[in-house]
Amino acid sequence: MTTTVNSVRPLLEGRGVTKRFGGLVAVNSIDFAVYPGEIVGLIGPNGSGKTTLLDCLSRVQSIDEGEVFFKETEITKLKPHKVAHLGMSRTFQVIRVYRKLTVLENMLVSRQWRGESLWSQLSPGHPDTEKRARRLIDFLTLEHLVDSPAGTLSGGQRRLLELGMAMMPDPELVLLDEAASGVNPTLVETIKDRIRALNTEQGKAFLIVEHDMRFISDMCSRVYVLNFGEKLAEGTPAEVIENEAVIEAYFGA
Ligand SMILES: Nc1ncnc2c1ncn2[C@@H]1O[C@H](COP(=O)(O)OP(=O)(O)OP(=O)(O)O)[C@@H](O)[C@H]1O
Ligand SMILES: [Mg+2]
Repeated sequence: MTTTVNSVRPLLEGRGVTKRFGGLVAVNSIDFAVYPGEIVGLIGPNGSGKTTLLDCLSRVQSIDEGEVFFKETEITKLKPHKVAHLGMSRTFQVIRVYRKLTVLENMLVSRQWRGESLWSQLSPGHPDTEKRARRLIDFLTLEHLVDSPAGTLSGGQRRLLELGMAMMPDPELVLLDEAASGVNPTLVETIKDRIRALNTEQGKAFLIVEHDMRFISDMCSRVYVLNFGEKLAEGTPAEVIENEAVIEAYFGA
């Protein structure tokens, strides 16, 4: 019963998604869709509800009103690890890596997303998992850091590691909260290049929150703009950048 565009059904669809914190409506009746193979941007001023919407879509936060569907399955009330199991991964605005574990160990524990225990993954006997982790580490250009504690990595290297951890369960959709914040310009290009490769070579879809408009313009075919929890605009990056309401929300009247 999901809506269709050109008869393609959304991979992820939110209908009337609403989240309140006490009297504050952080996300107000948002309709939202990501189609298979898309890279979609989610932008808006600070506090506009981007992270909260990502939290609602990935079920990290409960939803007060509305419905969320992933691959035509209603996930409105599913636990986050069940959503991950269906093929949705995410990263967080404040990077969540285990600083004392190595890059490889971080990749291995990320299998927890699928409900497997941390210790069973750290113990020997999972050659396929380790092979996959090492392949992803190479793919993300982190091979020289494979045995380094994650705490010694730069901001950009940690963002790449988090992307790798999100890719471990082989998801169809990845939600990235601030994909490139705190990242030096060279590594921003690496992050863009790797996301593009995952998209074009493996058909992975992405929903990306990012303040850097160049990043959004370069990467996304469609963009949603939030302001005070409301959907202010949606369209191509070029369309939303020229939208009067968007300009006003960012720069004032
Ligand atoms: N757990 C919470 N409890 C209470 N209020 C919250 C909570 N999380 C977010 N908020 C509020 O909800 C609103 C939306 O916050 P959110 O973090 O989703 O915005 P954002 O667009 O991600 O901002 P930023 O660009 O700064 O990351 C803000 O007013 C914020 O203060
Ligand atoms: Mg945020």
